[in-house]
Amino acid sequence: MRLIVGSGTPLCGSVNIQGAKNSALKLMAATLLAEGTHHLSNVPEIVDVEIMSELLRSMGSSVQWEGVNRLVITTPAMDGLLPRAPYELVDRMRASIVVLGPLVARAGVAQVSLPGGDDFGHRPIDIHLDALSLMGADFKVSHGYVTGRSERLVGAEIVLEFPSHTATDNVLMAASLASGETTITNAAKEPEVVDLAEMLKSMGARIDGAGTSTIRVVGTETLNCVSHEVIPDRVEAATFMCALAVTGGEIELLGARRDQMEMLMRKLERVGVDFVVSSSGILARSNGRPAASDIATLPYPGIATDYKPLLVAMLTVADGVSIVTENLFAGRFRYIDELRRMAANIQTEGHHVIVRGVGRLSGAQVKAPDIRAGAALVIAGLAAEGETIVSGVSHIDRGYERFEEKLTALGANVERIDS
Ligand code: EPU
Repeated sequence: MRLIVGSGTPLCGSVNIQGAKNSALKLMAATLLAEGTHHLSNVPEIVDVEIMSELLRSMGSSVQWEGVNRLVITTPAMDGLLPRAPYELVDRMRASIVVLGPLVARAGVAQVSLPGGDDFGHRPIDIHLDALSLMGADFKVSHGYVTGRSERLVGAEIVLEFPSHTATDNVLMAASLASGETTITNAAKEPEVVDLAEMLKSMGARIDGAGTSTIRVVGTETLNCVSHEVIPDRVEAATFMCALAVTGGEIELLGARRDQMEMLMRKLERVGVDFVVSSSGILARSNGRPAASDIATLPYPGIATDYKPLLVAMLTVADGVSIVTENLFAGRFRYIDELRRMAANIQTEGHHVIVRGVGRLSGAQVKAPDIRAGAALVIAGLAAEGETIVSGVSHIDRGYERFEEKLTALGANVERIDS
Protein backbone atom coordinates (compact mmCIF):
# COMPACT_ATOMS: atom_id res chain seq x y z
CA MET A 1 0.00 0.00 0.00
CA ARG A 2 1.32 3.44 -0.93
CA LEU A 3 0.10 7.00 -0.84
CA ILE A 4 0.68 9.20 -3.87
CA VAL A 5 0.83 12.80 -2.72
CA GLY A 6 0.52 15.61 -5.23
CA SER A 7 1.82 19.12 -4.85
CA GLY A 8 -0.21 20.99 -2.24
CA THR A 9 -3.11 23.18 -3.17
CA PRO A 10 -4.37 25.32 -0.25
CA LEU A 11 -6.46 23.27 2.19
CA CYS A 12 -10.02 24.39 2.68
CA GLY A 13 -13.10 23.04 4.45
CA SER A 14 -13.80 21.22 7.69
CA VAL A 15 -12.64 17.91 9.10
CA ASN A 16 -13.84 15.82 12.05
CA ILE A 17 -11.08 15.10 14.54
CA GLN A 18 -11.06 11.41 15.51
CA GLY A 19 -11.03 10.05 19.04
CA ALA A 20 -7.56 9.94 20.64
CA LYS A 21 -5.61 6.77 19.89
CA ASN A 22 -3.58 7.05 23.08
CA SER A 23 -6.72 7.40 25.13
CA ALA A 24 -8.82 4.72 23.44
CA LEU A 25 -6.14 2.02 23.85
CA LYS A 26 -5.91 2.60 27.64
CA LEU A 27 -9.69 2.82 28.07
CA MET A 28 -9.98 -0.52 26.29
CA ALA A 29 -7.38 -2.01 28.66
CA ALA A 30 -9.26 -0.56 31.64
CA THR A 31 -12.32 -2.66 30.74
CA LEU A 32 -10.30 -5.66 31.99
CA LEU A 33 -10.80 -4.30 35.50
CA ALA A 34 -14.53 -5.07 35.67
CA GLU A 35 -16.65 -8.00 34.57
CA GLY A 36 -19.56 -7.16 32.29
CA THR A 37 -20.35 -5.00 29.27
CA HIS A 38 -18.66 -1.64 28.65
CA HIS A 39 -19.52 0.91 25.94
CA LEU A 40 -16.90 3.20 24.45
CA SER A 41 -17.82 5.90 21.93
CA ASN A 42 -15.74 8.12 19.64
CA VAL A 43 -13.25 5.24 19.29
CA PRO A 44 -11.05 5.73 16.21
CA GLU A 45 -11.31 2.93 13.66
CA ILE A 46 -7.57 2.41 13.30
CA VAL A 47 -5.29 -0.60 13.23
CA ASP A 48 -3.96 -0.12 16.79
CA VAL A 49 -7.53 -0.34 18.10
CA GLU A 50 -7.94 -3.57 16.10
CA ILE A 51 -4.75 -4.93 17.68
CA MET A 52 -5.95 -4.02 21.18
CA SER A 53 -9.30 -5.68 20.33
CA GLU A 54 -7.44 -8.85 19.31
CA LEU A 55 -5.45 -8.72 22.52
CA LEU A 56 -8.59 -8.39 24.67
CA ARG A 57 -10.27 -11.22 22.72
CA SER A 58 -7.22 -13.42 23.26
CA MET A 59 -7.79 -12.92 27.00
CA GLY A 60 -11.44 -13.92 26.83
CA SER A 61 -13.23 -10.56 26.28
CA SER A 62 -15.75 -10.05 23.51
CA VAL A 63 -15.08 -6.89 21.49
CA GLN A 64 -17.46 -5.67 18.80
CA TRP A 65 -18.12 -2.53 16.80
CA GLU A 66 -21.68 -1.38 17.26
CA GLY A 67 -22.28 1.46 14.83
CA VAL A 68 -19.72 4.07 13.83
CA ASN A 69 -16.87 4.56 16.31
CA ARG A 70 -18.69 2.68 19.09
CA LEU A 71 -17.10 -0.34 20.72
CA VAL A 72 -18.88 -2.78 22.99
CA ILE A 73 -16.53 -4.79 25.18
CA THR A 74 -17.68 -7.60 27.45
CA THR A 75 -15.13 -8.64 30.04
CA PRO A 76 -15.37 -12.19 31.39
CA ALA A 77 -15.62 -13.27 35.01
CA MET A 78 -12.31 -14.15 36.65
CA ASP A 79 -12.51 -17.84 35.69
CA GLY A 80 -12.87 -16.91 31.99
CA LEU A 81 -9.95 -14.46 31.95
CA LEU A 82 -6.64 -15.56 30.43
CA PRO A 83 -4.18 -12.93 31.74
CA ARG A 84 -1.55 -13.21 29.03
CA ALA A 85 -0.37 -10.80 26.31
CA PRO A 86 1.47 -12.85 23.67
CA TYR A 87 4.61 -11.80 21.79
CA GLU A 88 2.79 -11.67 18.43
CA LEU A 89 0.49 -8.86 19.60
CA VAL A 90 2.88 -6.92 21.86
CA ASP A 91 5.41 -6.96 19.02
CA ARG A 92 2.83 -5.30 16.74
CA MET A 93 1.90 -2.68 19.33
CA ARG A 94 4.01 -1.82 22.35
CA ALA A 95 1.10 0.07 23.95
CA SER A 96 -0.09 -3.48 24.83
CA ILE A 97 1.98 -3.03 28.01
CA VAL A 98 -0.99 -1.13 29.50
CA VAL A 99 -2.75 -4.45 30.18
CA LEU A 100 -0.11 -5.26 32.80
CA GLY A 101 -1.52 -3.06 35.59
CA PRO A 102 -5.18 -4.11 35.19
CA LEU A 103 -4.30 -7.81 34.90
CA VAL A 104 -2.08 -7.97 37.98
CA ALA A 105 -4.68 -5.97 39.92
CA ARG A 106 -7.69 -8.08 38.94
CA ALA A 107 -6.30 -11.55 38.21
CA GLY A 108 -3.35 -11.48 40.65
CA VAL A 109 -1.15 -12.70 37.81
CA ALA A 110 -0.14 -11.40 34.39
CA GLN A 111 2.20 -12.65 31.75
CA VAL A 112 3.12 -10.01 29.19
CA SER A 113 5.67 -10.31 26.42
CA LEU A 114 8.47 -7.79 26.95
CA PRO A 115 8.29 -5.07 24.31
CA GLY A 116 11.50 -4.80 22.29
CA GLY A 117 13.27 -1.62 21.21
CA ASP A 118 11.93 0.28 18.22
CA ASP A 119 12.69 3.17 15.95
CA PHE A 120 12.45 5.53 18.95
CA GLY A 121 15.47 3.78 20.51
CA HIS A 122 15.63 1.83 23.74
CA ARG A 123 12.13 1.64 25.35
CA PRO A 124 12.41 0.14 28.86
CA ILE A 125 9.47 -0.62 31.22
CA ASP A 126 11.43 -0.43 34.48
CA ILE A 127 9.32 2.49 35.76
CA HIS A 128 6.12 0.43 35.30
CA LEU A 129 7.62 -2.57 37.12
CA ASP A 130 9.15 -0.55 39.98
CA ALA A 131 5.82 1.18 40.66
CA LEU A 132 3.72 -1.99 40.58
CA SER A 133 6.32 -3.75 42.78
CA LEU A 134 5.86 -1.05 45.41
CA MET A 135 2.18 -2.01 45.43
CA GLY A 136 3.09 -5.61 46.21
CA ALA A 137 3.53 -7.26 42.80
CA ASP A 138 6.47 -9.55 42.23
CA PHE A 139 7.96 -9.68 38.72
CA LYS A 140 10.14 -12.27 37.01
CA VAL A 141 11.47 -12.20 33.48
CA SER A 142 11.89 -15.43 31.57
CA HIS A 143 11.73 -16.55 27.94
CA GLY A 144 10.94 -13.02 26.75
CA TYR A 145 7.97 -12.58 29.07
CA VAL A 146 7.55 -10.64 32.29
CA THR A 147 5.30 -12.42 34.77
CA GLY A 148 3.79 -10.45 37.62
CA ARG A 149 2.10 -12.02 40.63
CA SER A 150 0.41 -10.55 43.61
CA GLU A 151 -2.20 -11.09 46.29
CA ARG A 152 -4.49 -8.06 46.28
CA LEU A 153 -2.34 -5.02 45.50
CA VAL A 154 -1.97 -2.45 48.26
CA GLY A 155 -1.89 1.31 47.89
CA ALA A 156 1.59 2.87 48.03
CA GLU A 157 3.47 6.14 47.76
CA ILE A 158 4.93 6.01 44.27
CA VAL A 159 7.40 8.52 42.90
CA LEU A 160 7.94 8.04 39.18
CA GLU A 161 11.52 8.62 38.09
CA PHE A 162 10.14 10.18 34.89
CA PRO A 163 6.52 11.17 34.17
CA SER A 164 6.05 8.17 31.88
CA HIS A 165 2.68 8.26 30.18
CA THR A 166 1.91 4.53 30.04
CA ALA A 167 3.52 3.87 33.46
CA THR A 168 1.10 6.43 34.93
CA ASP A 169 -1.76 4.64 33.09
CA ASN A 170 -0.70 1.26 34.47
CA VAL A 171 -0.45 2.52 38.05
CA LEU A 172 -3.77 4.40 37.84
CA MET A 173 -5.56 1.25 36.69
CA ALA A 174 -3.83 -1.01 39.22
CA ALA A 175 -4.43 1.45 42.09
CA SER A 176 -8.15 1.59 41.28
CA LEU A 177 -8.51 -2.04 42.42
CA ALA A 178 -5.85 -1.93 45.17
CA SER A 179 -6.70 -1.75 48.84
CA GLY A 180 -6.10 1.68 50.34
CA GLU A 181 -4.65 4.86 48.93
CA THR A 182 -1.99 5.26 46.25
CA THR A 183 -0.20 8.53 45.61
CA ILE A 184 1.60 8.96 42.29
CA THR A 185 4.16 11.77 42.41
CA ASN A 186 5.71 13.05 39.16
CA ALA A 187 2.75 11.57 37.29
CA ALA A 188 2.24 12.18 33.57
CA LYS A 189 -0.21 15.05 32.98
CA GLU A 190 -1.38 14.26 29.44
CA PRO A 191 -5.07 14.83 28.60
CA GLU A 192 -5.31 11.09 27.82
CA VAL A 193 -4.29 10.31 31.43
CA VAL A 194 -7.12 12.59 32.59
CA ASP A 195 -9.51 10.77 30.25
CA LEU A 196 -8.51 7.41 31.74
CA ALA A 197 -8.95 8.79 35.27
CA GLU A 198 -12.44 10.04 34.34
CA MET A 199 -13.41 6.59 33.10
CA LEU A 200 -12.00 4.91 36.22
CA LYS A 201 -13.97 7.37 38.37
CA SER A 202 -17.16 6.43 36.51
CA MET A 203 -16.28 2.80 37.23
CA GLY A 204 -16.15 3.56 40.96
CA ALA A 205 -12.55 4.50 41.79
CA ARG A 206 -11.86 7.67 43.79
CA ILE A 207 -9.21 9.70 41.97
CA ASP A 208 -8.01 13.27 42.58
CA GLY A 209 -5.38 15.30 40.82
CA ALA A 210 -5.33 13.69 37.36
CA GLY A 211 -3.79 16.27 35.01
CA THR A 212 -1.40 17.45 37.74
CA SER A 213 1.87 15.87 38.83
CA THR A 214 0.34 14.34 41.99
CA ILE A 215 -2.53 11.90 41.64
CA ARG A 216 -4.30 10.25 44.59
CA VAL A 217 -6.27 7.07 44.05
CA VAL A 218 -8.42 5.30 46.62
CA GLY A 219 -8.99 1.79 45.33
CA THR A 220 -12.10 -0.31 45.67
CA GLU A 221 -12.69 -4.07 45.77
CA THR A 222 -14.76 -4.18 42.59
CA LEU A 223 -15.34 -1.73 39.78
CA ASN A 224 -18.45 -1.31 37.61
CA CYS A 225 -19.10 -1.37 33.89
CA VAL A 226 -19.03 1.96 32.15
CA SER A 227 -20.09 4.02 29.11
CA HIS A 228 -17.44 6.53 28.17
CA GLU A 229 -16.62 8.86 25.27
CA VAL A 230 -13.01 9.13 24.09
CA ILE A 231 -11.51 12.66 23.96
CA PRO A 232 -10.37 14.12 20.60
CA ASP A 233 -6.98 13.18 19.18
CA ARG A 234 -4.66 16.16 19.61
CA VAL A 235 -1.96 14.57 17.45
CA GLU A 236 -4.34 14.14 14.53
CA ALA A 237 -5.42 17.78 14.97
CA ALA A 238 -1.74 18.82 15.01
CA THR A 239 -1.18 16.87 11.79
CA PHE A 240 -3.82 18.89 9.94
CA MET A 241 -2.46 22.12 11.46
CA CYS A 242 1.08 21.39 10.22
CA ALA A 243 -0.25 20.38 6.79
CA LEU A 244 -2.13 23.69 6.60
CA ALA A 245 1.01 25.59 7.58
CA VAL A 246 2.75 24.39 4.38
CA THR A 247 -0.18 24.54 1.97
CA GLY A 248 -1.94 27.68 3.20
CA GLY A 249 -5.73 27.96 3.33
CA GLU A 250 -8.40 27.82 5.99
CA ILE A 251 -9.73 24.70 7.72
CA GLU A 252 -11.99 23.97 10.64
CA LEU A 253 -10.95 21.15 12.97
CA LEU A 254 -14.26 19.94 14.33
CA GLY A 255 -14.05 18.74 17.93
CA ALA A 256 -10.41 19.85 18.47
CA ARG A 257 -9.71 21.45 21.83
CA ARG A 258 -7.22 24.25 22.38
CA ASP A 259 -6.92 23.46 26.10
CA GLN A 260 -5.38 20.09 25.17
CA MET A 261 -2.75 21.52 22.82
CA GLU A 262 -2.09 25.04 24.08
CA MET A 263 1.72 25.03 23.85
CA LEU A 264 1.73 23.66 20.30
CA MET A 265 -0.81 26.21 19.12
CA ARG A 266 1.21 29.08 20.62
CA LYS A 267 4.22 27.80 18.70
CA LEU A 268 2.23 27.51 15.46
CA GLU A 269 0.89 31.04 15.97
CA ARG A 270 4.48 32.21 16.18
CA VAL A 271 5.29 30.64 12.80
CA GLY A 272 2.26 32.29 11.22
CA VAL A 273 -0.80 30.05 11.66
CA ASP A 274 -3.86 31.91 13.01
CA PHE A 275 -6.50 30.21 15.13
CA VAL A 276 -10.02 31.05 16.19
CA VAL A 277 -11.65 28.82 18.80
CA SER A 278 -15.36 28.23 18.32
CA SER A 279 -17.95 26.06 20.04
CA SER A 280 -17.51 23.43 17.32
CA GLY A 281 -13.72 23.30 17.31
CA ILE A 282 -10.79 25.32 16.01
CA LEU A 283 -10.63 27.38 12.82
CA ALA A 284 -7.07 27.60 11.43
CA ARG A 285 -5.66 29.87 8.72
CA SER A 286 -2.23 30.13 7.12
CA ASN A 287 -0.56 31.74 4.11
CA GLY A 288 1.48 28.60 3.36
CA ARG A 289 5.00 29.80 4.26
CA PRO A 290 5.79 29.27 7.95
CA ALA A 291 8.47 31.26 9.73
CA ALA A 292 11.36 29.34 11.31
CA SER A 293 11.22 28.56 15.03
CA ASP A 294 13.19 26.65 17.66
CA ILE A 295 11.24 23.87 19.33
CA ALA A 296 12.01 21.44 22.18
CA THR A 297 9.88 18.41 23.06
CA LEU A 298 8.89 17.88 26.70
CA PRO A 299 6.33 15.89 28.66
CA TYR A 300 2.86 17.49 28.73
CA PRO A 301 2.06 20.39 28.91
CA GLY A 302 5.24 20.83 26.84
CA ILE A 303 5.33 20.17 23.11
CA ALA A 304 4.77 16.43 22.65
CA THR A 305 7.43 14.28 21.04
CA ASP A 306 4.64 12.92 18.82
CA TYR A 307 4.33 16.35 17.19
CA LYS A 308 8.02 16.50 16.36
CA PRO A 309 8.12 14.75 12.97
CA LEU A 310 5.13 16.85 11.88
CA LEU A 311 6.87 20.05 12.98
CA VAL A 312 10.18 19.09 11.37
CA ALA A 313 8.36 18.38 8.08
CA MET A 314 6.68 21.79 8.34
CA LEU A 315 9.96 23.59 9.12
CA THR A 316 11.73 22.11 6.07
CA VAL A 317 9.98 24.80 4.02
CA ALA A 318 10.11 27.56 6.65
CA ASP A 319 11.64 30.94 6.11
CA GLY A 320 14.92 30.61 8.06
CA VAL A 321 16.76 28.15 10.30
CA SER A 322 15.10 26.17 13.12
CA ILE A 323 16.59 23.98 15.84
CA VAL A 324 14.38 21.15 17.07
CA THR A 325 15.46 19.34 20.25
CA GLU A 326 14.19 15.88 21.24
CA ASN A 327 14.14 15.39 25.01
CA LEU A 328 12.15 12.14 25.32
CA PHE A 329 13.41 9.49 22.96
CA ALA A 330 16.97 8.69 21.93
CA GLY A 331 16.03 7.54 18.42
CA ARG A 332 13.20 8.89 16.31
CA PHE A 333 15.39 10.31 13.54
CA ARG A 334 14.99 7.78 10.71
CA TYR A 335 12.40 9.86 8.85
CA ILE A 336 14.96 12.64 8.57
CA ASP A 337 16.90 10.65 5.98
CA GLU A 338 13.64 10.28 4.06
CA LEU A 339 13.05 14.05 4.22
CA ARG A 340 16.58 14.57 2.92
CA ARG A 341 15.66 12.43 -0.08
CA MET A 342 13.06 15.14 -0.75
CA ALA A 343 15.81 17.81 -0.77
CA ALA A 344 15.20 19.00 2.79
CA ASN A 345 18.25 20.66 4.34
CA ILE A 346 18.49 18.95 7.75
CA GLN A 347 21.44 18.17 9.97
CA THR A 348 21.35 16.17 13.19
CA GLU A 349 23.64 16.90 16.15
CA GLY A 350 23.01 14.52 19.07
CA HIS A 351 19.39 15.08 20.03
CA HIS A 352 19.16 18.33 18.05
CA VAL A 353 17.91 18.71 14.50
CA ILE A 354 18.93 21.78 12.53
CA VAL A 355 16.46 22.53 9.77
CA ARG A 356 17.38 25.12 7.14
CA GLY A 357 14.17 26.01 5.37
CA VAL A 358 14.12 25.65 1.59
CA GLY A 359 11.35 27.26 -0.47
CA ARG A 360 10.01 23.95 -1.78
CA LEU A 361 10.84 20.26 -1.37
CA SER A 362 11.19 17.88 -4.25
CA GLY A 363 8.78 14.92 -4.53
CA ALA A 364 10.42 11.50 -4.15
CA GLN A 365 9.77 7.90 -3.13
CA VAL A 366 10.01 7.67 0.65
CA LYS A 367 9.22 5.12 3.34
CA ALA A 368 7.27 5.72 6.59
CA PRO A 369 9.18 4.33 9.59
CA ASP A 370 6.42 4.90 12.18
CA ILE A 371 2.96 6.44 12.59
CA ARG A 372 3.81 10.11 13.04
CA ALA A 373 6.81 10.04 10.73
CA GLY A 374 4.52 8.58 8.06
CA ALA A 375 2.09 11.47 8.46
CA ALA A 376 5.07 13.87 8.39
CA LEU A 377 6.18 12.49 5.02
CA VAL A 378 2.70 13.14 3.64
CA ILE A 379 2.93 16.75 4.91
CA ALA A 380 6.32 17.01 3.21
CA GLY A 381 4.71 15.69 0.02
CA LEU A 382 2.17 18.50 0.15
CA ALA A 383 5.08 20.95 0.38
CA ALA A 384 6.98 19.37 -2.52
CA GLU A 385 7.09 20.03 -6.18
CA GLY A 386 6.06 16.94 -8.17
CA GLU A 387 4.78 13.63 -6.87
CA THR A 388 5.76 12.00 -3.56
CA ILE A 389 5.20 8.28 -3.10
CA VAL A 390 4.99 7.24 0.55
CA SER A 391 5.32 3.51 1.24
CA GLY A 392 4.93 1.87 4.67
CA VAL A 393 1.37 3.20 4.83
CA SER A 394 0.46 0.44 7.29
CA HIS A 395 2.25 2.57 9.92
CA ILE A 396 -0.01 5.55 9.17
CA ASP A 397 -3.08 3.30 9.35
CA ARG A 398 -2.12 2.30 12.89
CA GLY A 399 -2.98 5.77 14.14
CA TYR A 400 -4.98 7.70 11.53
CA GLU A 401 -8.56 7.01 10.52
CA ARG A 402 -9.16 7.49 6.76
CA PHE A 403 -6.17 9.86 6.55
CA GLU A 404 -6.07 10.33 2.79
CA GLU A 405 -9.87 10.62 2.55
CA LYS A 406 -9.87 13.44 5.08
CA LEU A 407 -7.02 15.25 3.33
CA THR A 408 -8.69 14.83 -0.07
CA ALA A 409 -11.94 16.26 1.31
CA LEU A 410 -9.89 19.35 2.31
CA GLY A 411 -8.66 19.70 -1.28
CA ALA A 412 -5.32 17.88 -1.04
CA ASN A 413 -4.20 15.60 -3.79
CA VAL A 414 -3.57 12.26 -2.03
CA GLU A 415 -4.41 8.85 -3.42
CA ARG A 416 -3.97 5.35 -1.98
CA ILE A 417 -2.79 2.64 -4.32
CA ASP A 418 -2.09 -1.05 -3.77
CA SER A 419 1.62 -1.67 -4.19
N1 EPU B 1 10.96 5.41 30.13
C1 EPU B 1 11.83 4.67 30.88
N2 EPU B 1 11.35 3.61 31.60
C2 EPU B 1 10.03 3.27 31.57
C3 EPU B 1 9.13 4.01 30.79
C4 EPU B 1 9.63 5.09 30.07
O1 EPU B 1 13.01 4.95 30.92
O2 EPU B 1 9.67 2.30 32.26
C5 EPU B 1 11.45 6.55 29.34
C6 EPU B 1 11.35 6.26 27.84
O3 EPU B 1 12.45 5.53 27.39
C7 EPU B 1 11.30 7.65 27.27
C8 EPU B 1 10.49 8.43 28.31
O4 EPU B 1 10.58 7.67 29.50
O5 EPU B 1 12.57 8.21 27.18
C9 EPU B 1 9.05 8.70 27.96
O6 EPU B 1 8.38 7.53 27.70
P1 EPU B 1 6.86 7.28 28.10
O7 EPU B 1 6.83 6.08 28.99
O8 EPU B 1 6.20 8.52 28.58
O9 EPU B 1 6.25 6.87 26.71
P2 EPU B 1 5.17 5.77 26.50
O10 EPU B 1 4.22 5.82 27.63
O11 EPU B 1 5.79 4.48 26.16
C10 EPU B 1 3.44 7.30 25.28
C11 EPU B 1 2.72 7.31 23.96
C12 EPU B 1 3.70 7.64 22.84
C13 EPU B 1 4.34 8.98 23.14
C14 EPU B 1 5.00 8.96 24.53
C15 EPU B 1 5.56 10.28 24.98
C16 EPU B 1 0.99 5.68 24.25
C17 EPU B 1 0.45 4.36 23.86
N3 EPU B 1 2.15 6.01 23.72
O12 EPU B 1 4.42 6.28 25.19
O13 EPU B 1 2.93 7.75 21.64
O14 EPU B 1 5.31 9.25 22.16
O15 EPU B 1 4.03 8.56 25.53
O16 EPU B 1 4.56 11.24 25.07
O17 EPU B 1 0.38 6.42 25.00
C18 EPU B 1 2.36 7.24 19.39
O18 EPU B 1 1.23 7.66 19.61
O19 EPU B 1 2.70 6.88 18.25
C19 EPU B 1 3.33 7.15 20.47
C20 EPU B 1 4.50 6.58 20.30
